[in-house]
Amino acid sequence: MLSGVIGTEIAPAPQLFCRMPKVQRTQVGIVGAGPAGLVLSHLLYLHGIESVVLENRARQYVEERVRAGVLEQNTVDLLTAMGVGERMKREGLVHYGIELRFNGQGHRIDFHELTGGKGITIYAQAEVLKDLNNARIAAGCQVLFEVEDVSVHKLDGPQPKILYRKDGDEYELCCDFIAGCDGFHGICRPSIPAGVLTEYDRLYPFGWLGILAEAPPSAEELIYAYHERGFALLSMRTPHISRLYVQCRPDEEIDHWNDEKIWHELRTRLASTNGWKLTEGPVLQKGVTGMRSFVVEPMQYGRLYLAGDSAHIVPPTGAKGLNLAVTDVQILARGFDEYYSEGRHDLLDRYSEICLRRVWKVQRFSWWMTSMLHRFPDENPFDHRRQLAELDYVTSSHAAARTLAENYVGLPLE
Ligand code: FAD
Ligand code: DHB
Repeated sequence: MLSGVIGTEIAPAPQLFCRMPKVQRTQVGIVGAGPAGLVLSHLLYLHGIESVVLENRARQYVEERVRAGVLEQNTVDLLTAMGVGERMKREGLVHYGIELRFNGQGHRIDFHELTGGKGITIYAQAEVLKDLNNARIAAGCQVLFEVEDVSVHKLDGPQPKILYRKDGDEYELCCDFIAGCDGFHGICRPSIPAGVLTEYDRLYPFGWLGILAEAPPSAEELIYAYHERGFALLSMRTPHISRLYVQCRPDEEIDHWNDEKIWHELRTRLASTNGWKLTEGPVLQKGVTGMRSFVVEPMQYGRLYLAGDSAHIVPPTGAKGLNLAVTDVQILARGFDEYYSEGRHDLLDRYSEICLRRVWKVQRFSWWMTSMLHRFPDENPFDHRRQLAELDYVTSSHAAARTLAENYVGLPLE
């Protein structure tokens, strides 16, 4: 439960012998300028609530990091409503289906028909972050990059604090609330006292090797391929840039994969009996991503609220990580709005409970897609046959296809 008031006067820092931090004040202190932190900060601004975002990386690094690319309808609608959807509307690629490919044959899952007209938008996470940063800065708001030694304190009291350093100076940011939007490796989750959180974790015995290639996408929609040699995915960023992935070992050394080896593996796994050809081109970027399912419960402690990857990780097969981060902060922003406009904290108290119900459903979907589409090192011939039967079922049963489609385009926000 919450206690305390907004706008508490700050006593001047006593002069000791050491240099004292400069004291600042805001309503919501946000750690991390990823999708969760920036969407939250902009939503709060639109509700007239002040925030400061602290990010330890450089702006350019954050805006160039190659990550997710699939936006659910809810994410698109929210970004549009927030006034940051103009470029996404212009440059984003709207898709109304995906292909599941196995035994060399493609099967389309028609989202439009199965979900009553819903679709997804292909628009890179990096582009979303550029649009959000531009909007935050145009609004004169504070997003501080390259801050150091961020730590959070007094989380269970009425006025939590964030300590950090910037350009050699030390700062103390006094807040009403702190939002931990600092990703899986951030400092907020580990700052919660031992014994408060329960962790649910599953590591997968494989990873994804992803490339960005200067090659027009070889298909209009995404292709998820199940092959004897492992999973492969054809995705895209623009009409000129393809994004492709192959299942690999979790500890794969990227240097062991030259471009020809990657293209060979992609050609083999995505091969189709109908003469379809993979378009190839120069590889612009490549990297390996581990696969894990992870959730902490609860997602809040005192006045600290965890959102996005700091609270949960999904394996990427369902393209849910970014979208889940956005729905968390959508709920959190409503909670803060209710608190500041009506003085009530019912929603904030129930933040974790509301988020986790949806988080677990998305975890289930991401785990299911991952289990259906990857080869497992310890599997036996029975498992292989079962996976093929599952793919056959999903692509031949209207009910099963609809289940996939409604989860892929995004479950409704309650
Ligand atoms: P993040 O995007 O991780 O943002 C957290 C921010 O906090 C970062 O900018 C970080 O620099 C900052 N930070 C961390 N520690 C501190 C600190 N101590 N002080 C200040 N700032 C700090 N999802 C998909 O759906 N599809 C994909 O293809 C896909 N690919 C991915 C590839 C990689 C390599 C990774 C890591 C993730 C990928 N994801 C993908 C997941 C998706 O990108 C994340 O779910 C999404 O970024 C979550 O957003 P977030 O804001 O919660 O966390
Ligand atoms: C992309 C990533 C995913 O995890 C996915 O399921 C589909 C597409 C992408 O990066 O484009």
